Amino acid sequence: MFVRWWHMVLVLVVAPLAVILFAWIGFFNVGASTGHWKITEWFLHFAMQSAVRTYALSVEVPDELPRAGVQPAAAHFTTGCAICHGAPGEPRSPVVKRMLPQPPDLTTVVDKWSDEELFRIVKHGVRFTGMPAWPTQARDDEIWAMVAFLRELPSLDPQQYRKLAYGSTGLPSAQHSGFERALADCVRCHETNGAGRSALTPIIDGQSEAYLLESLRAYAEGSRASGFMTQAAANVDTDDLERLARYFAAQSPPALERAPTSHAASRGREIAERGLSARRVPACLGCHGGSAHNPAYPKLWGQRADYIEAQLRLFREGKRSGTAYSHLMLNAAKKLTDEDIRAVATYFAAQASRSTMTTR
Ligand code: HEC
Ligand code: HEC
Ligand code: HEC
Repeated sequence: MFVRWWHMVLVLVVAPLAVILFAWIGFFNVGASTGHWKITEWFLHFAMQSAVRTYALSVEVPDELPRAGVQPAAAHFTTGCAICHGAPGEPRSPVVKRMLPQPPDLTTVVDKWSDEELFRIVKHGVRFTGMPAWPTQARDDEIWAMVAFLRELPSLDPQQYRKLAYGSTGLPSAQHSGFERALADCVRCHETNGAGRSALTPIIDGQSEAYLLESLRAYAEGSRASGFMTQAAANVDTDDLERLARYFAAQSPPALERAPTSHAASRGREIAERGLSARRVPACLGCHGGSAHNPAYPKLWGQRADYIEAQLRLFREGKRSGTAYSHLMLNAAKKLTDEDIRAVATYFAAQASRSTMTTR
């Protein structure tokens, strides 16, 4: 029998119509209760693994996973991931186990994936499965912190996990409500006095209330990109955000040890005081120094060096915005080299503490 052109047209028209008819009548069982056929399950998993492997080829892995971010990643895991995947000492709920596909207990499967594959899954999620994408696609450093945490997850016992994720106060319980509950959530990463539990978490105590509130609003609406902070701020109502800003602004800064002066710190001081006229980098202290500055400009003295560096890189790459004044910093950071960034971060971090700032 000859295949004529109209046979092909018939197939191309009739086949899709048959599929639509099948779906319209409702024969396709979308119920999750009976599970997939073995072959469908095999095929879906095979397709998922192959896609992750292929798309991960373009992922650039950092020289070292950012271990400094393991603590905030663990704390984020508790509120953003454990509800589906469980955690050490917290088995998955029977409800989640009836999802199709079932979210796996990650302690048993992370070793199957390379770092770049885990990055790919966590950043983009997995279609048709309920596995969500990361809350922001604008920056990758937090996702690498999550990969660093996932690498440690299989070896954590329940006690170690709780210490990392909940700190000393535990997860906000149903007994708390409103402000108390919101504060208990912040404390898991920022401590009660706002000093912060990791090198990548900013010291927020003693920062101006106006700046803290402006930042919290920007995180809550997603315009300042951070998966960690958007998750934390988005569930807090406006009045409580204001109270949190007031609370942390009123905490006394801890006494920090003044670091010994180094070559980097003196170069940093030079940039902070005078800027770099050849590259049109303004003097940082023009905005970040003295007592009379605009309260929307954050205080930098005594801030953590790693945090300052990370934020300057985000500004330089145009990845941090969201407040009425962020354009000022985009401009100031545009021409900084990695070396400049390290130098100014060392300089600001080495200054004893916030409380001494106003006298400078
Ligand atoms: C709403 C439920 C849900 C949430 C929340 C969730 N996941 Fe998943 N996740 C899934 C499901 C379902 C799969 C299985 C996908 C599949 O088998 O194709 C999965 C798969 C994964 C995998 C691949 C494991 C494997 O071998 O299949 C990793 C890694 C992962 N999730 C990490 C995370 C992280 C990290 C978070 C938090 C940022 C998170 N997930 C949040 C549902 C969820
Ligand atoms: C999962 C850990 C985690 C939780 C929970 C958390 N934070 Fe944060 N917070 C961070 C990290 C990490 C950053 C730095 C984010 C960035 O790079 O923009 C940050 C940044 C901030 C900033 C910006 C400070 C600055 O100098 O720009 C404020 C303000 C803040 N957090 C307040 C809060 C408040 C209030 C809560 C509770 C509602 C909270 N955070 C909950 C980890 C957390
Ligand atoms: C014209 C004023 C101005 C100048 C000059 C300036 N900044 Fe800023 N800087 C700001 C403002 C405003 C913000 C807050 C932006 C926001 O939150 O959107 C900021 C934020 C920052 C932050 C983030 C702090 C935090 O807690 O998250 C760092 C780090 C920083 N500046 C470093 C510098 C350095 C280093 C220089 C000098 C090279 C500099 N700035 C010059 C106005 C300025």
